[in-house]
Amino acid sequence: MQLLDGKVLSLQIKQELAAEVAEIKSQNGKIPHLVAILVGTAGRSETYVASKMKSCEEVGMHSTLIRFDDSVSEEELIQAVRDVNENPDMDGLIVQLPLPAHISADRVMETIDPKKDVDGFHPINIGRMAKGLPAYISATPQGILEMLKRYAIETAGKHCVVVGRSQIVGLPMSILMQRNTYPGNCTVTLTHSRTLNLAEICRSADILIAALGRPEFITADMVKDGAVVIDVGLERVPDLTKKSGFALKGDVNFDEVAPKTSYITPVPGGVGLMTICSLMQNTLKAARGEVYH
Ligand code: GUN
Repeated sequence: MQLLDGKVLSLQIKQELAAEVAEIKSQNGKIPHLVAILVGTAGRSETYVASKMKSCEEVGMHSTLIRFDDSVSEEELIQAVRDVNENPDMDGLIVQLPLPAHISADRVMETIDPKKDVDGFHPINIGRMAKGLPAYISATPQGILEMLKRYAIETAGKHCVVVGRSQIVGLPMSILMQRNTYPGNCTVTLTHSRTLNLAEICRSADILIAALGRPEFITADMVKDGAVVIDVGLERVPDLTKKSGFALKGDVNFDEVAPKTSYITPVPGGVGLMTICSLMQNTLKAARGEVYH
């Protein structure tokens, strides 16, 4: 078993990004600029956004956080998105999800200029990704592809099982893993809460991607010997032995599954760190006008 080490990879990628940011700065004075819109203070969004902003600063990019109360109206939020769209100094924009129930996330996402949609959530980017055209790809799936690439994991002809059909991870991941490229060329099965015989399907996976958001759901009996296991989950579970009172768990029961695998991502220290790197890579692409000319 070998760990797919998000810590090592993300440090490498951050160094590469810092060098590239310094280069475009010296060439034309341009500093890539990521803007995040955060609504409310509930859940873990605040922590996630703070770490995105901090990572940008670490590699020399600019970052701006625009905050709203939970009570913000959909129109106000949409106007803030339009303002960023029109600001030539701002290259990339993310609106952290989830949004309060009175706001349509779809409407907000559709307002983001696809050229600045570094999260890859706009229907145009999802459509272009599905067609294999240049597009911004959702940060977590892109981070997983980067991990597979940097560890030179063979994917062609493999059976890839994705557990979870979220718009952000499961769905794009299933599309990306079947594309006629590397990493890709897998036979993909996308499973979800209504899937019958889930354990049996998972056991047939050469590459198992768990993105369902249920702590330690994937157990050893669901994993084939020698499989590559990617764990997208990150949940807090009560743990009185920890000072904080909780432990961070993935969707995979790491202790029992790891010995069976050829490669596995740890939680924390796996996919999560790659997600932030993808977002910065996309912001750099936006600043360079690489995806849309
Ligand atoms: N909420 C959970 N993950 C994400 C993400 O990758 N981007 C945004 N905007 N919101 C999220």
